Amino acid sequence: MARTVYVNGDYLPETEARVSIFDRGFLMADGVYEVTSVLGGKLIDFPGHLARLQRSLDELSMKNPLSADDWLEVHRQLVARNDVDEGMVYLQVTRGNPGDRDFAFPPEDTPPTVVLFTQSKSGLADNPVARTGIKVISVPDIRWGRRDIKTVQLLYPSLAKMAAKKAHVDDAWFVEDGFVTEGTSNNVYIVKGGKIVTRNLSNDILHGITRAAVVRFAREAQMEVEERAFTIAEAQAADEAFFTSASAFVLPVVEVDGQAVGAGKPGPVATRLREIYLDEMRKAAV
Ligand code: PDD
Repeated sequence: MARTVYVNGDYLPETEARVSIFDRGFLMADGVYEVTSVLGGKLIDFPGHLARLQRSLDELSMKNPLSADDWLEVHRQLVARNDVDEGMVYLQVTRGNPGDRDFAFPPEDTPPTVVLFTQSKSGLADNPVARTGIKVISVPDIRWGRRDIKTVQLLYPSLAKMAAKKAHVDDAWFVEDGFVTEGTSNNVYIVKGGKIVTRNLSNDILHGITRAAVVRFAREAQMEVEERAFTIAEAQAADEAFFTSASAFVLPVVEVDGQAVGAGKPGPVATRLREIYLDEMRKAAV
């Protein structure tokens, strides 16, 4: 059955949705996005995603096309119309269609393009990967210097994901100047002697909404969290490793560049944080 998607104010079957070939998102990757998970038909950490959307738009001098209430309404409509129980809502805002190709921004009154769609994915919460963990390789981080803005320029993360597939592992960790920045589409952590280490916030990484919640929950549970960069060698010598993202929540990493991390299976800190995250976020879901 064709999904119902949202394009610039209209709810349409996906087969009838249209965006201009001159759209700046299509020609220049001039757009930002958010991914919000759905559990039990409700949105997970929705205020966090809206706040980061505003920040991404501000950093690129784009106006927010919808109010917070309208964003919520469109998300809820799509979840309801597509009967999503577990899955996600994807939203994208671009600088719109100037009617031509030009490096300079179009006039300020050019309407932005707003697109949202859903993806159903059962087994998101009860994910078997939480019981096995994933394997990663490291790749050089050659992305641009404003990774804190959630833009749709995802070519290099896609290439890194393909390098991981080719190496028969699940994901890749980016390394810059000898230190891990983040995963292809997630924030990463190691645990050593009970202390959780994750890279500090800067323009070098996306400020993960899941990261913010997990760091808060860890501290509330009296776990020590140190926000600093770490190396691949440190990860390989850690007791455990894990990653966070809106679509995966918290998942263990059991191998880095062919070397087992700790016992080579999911550790207690990642497992506990996943439980706390899911419990707390279900309670706060809208
Ligand atoms: N990716 N770092 C990068 C580069 C990301 O693309 C993402 C999210 C994260 C985690 O952020 P959050 O916890 O807010 O999801 C970190 C999304 C899920 C995606 O592109 O599908």
